Amino acid sequence: MPIRPATSSDVSLVLPMVRAQYAMHVAWDAAKFGVKEGFEAGFGRWMAGLVKDPRGAFFVATNDRDVPVGFLVATVERELPLYLLAEYAFIHDVWVEKDHRGKGLARGLVIAALEKFKAIGIRQVRCETAHINEDARKVFSKMGFRPTTVVMLKELAP
Ligand SMILES: CC(C)(COP(=O)(O)OP(=O)(O)OC[C@H]1O[C@@H](n2cnc3c(N)ncnc32)[C@H](O)[C@@H]1OP(=O)(O)O)[C@@H](O)C(=O)NCCC(=O)NCCS
Repeated sequence: MPIRPATSSDVSLVLPMVRAQYAMHVAWDAAKFGVKEGFEAGFGRWMAGLVKDPRGAFFVATNDRDVPVGFLVATVERELPLYLLAEYAFIHDVWVEKDHRGKGLARGLVIAALEKFKAIGIRQVRCETAHINEDARKVFSKMGFRPTTVVMLKELAP
């Protein structure tokens, strides 16, 4: 499986996929997913930090020339203090380029992240999907994730 940890030189190659991922979400729900002009610069710096984070997960799926065609980014998050669970891993983004979908790359990326988090003692992994993104929920369900909360949103006029 062409899945490997990302390196700092992958960041600029992953950024167009980040852009596509956010454009898709903004088209679905701009109030929820609207991003600032030029957000990619900060996102790139964040990903460069994630490459070196021993508790983070940044994996790429590559083509036969070792060029990223998919990626996953996830971090360990602290739960609110009232909960029994102290921390969990959160998958922020998973993306596979259209021409490379349906070949098990997302599965490989998610498994790599699950293995990494299990190895550092994390016992729960979460992700969120846009409500409209039923396909993504099917993909995560196939990998053992189950639905939990549904976030609702109401916009208030200024
Ligand atoms: C969701 C996405 C990452 C899946 O990538 P992929 O590499 O095609 O997925 P895989 O080939 O690894 O498929 C994993 C499993 O999900 C299933 N699956 C994949 N796409 C599916 C779809 N559209 N509908 C239903 N099931 C699907 C596969 O059959 C496979 O199941 P199996 O192993 O039991 O056969 C990809 O479609 C994508 O990048 N979508 C846009 C971004 C997105 O929605 N990201 C997730 C939300 S953050």
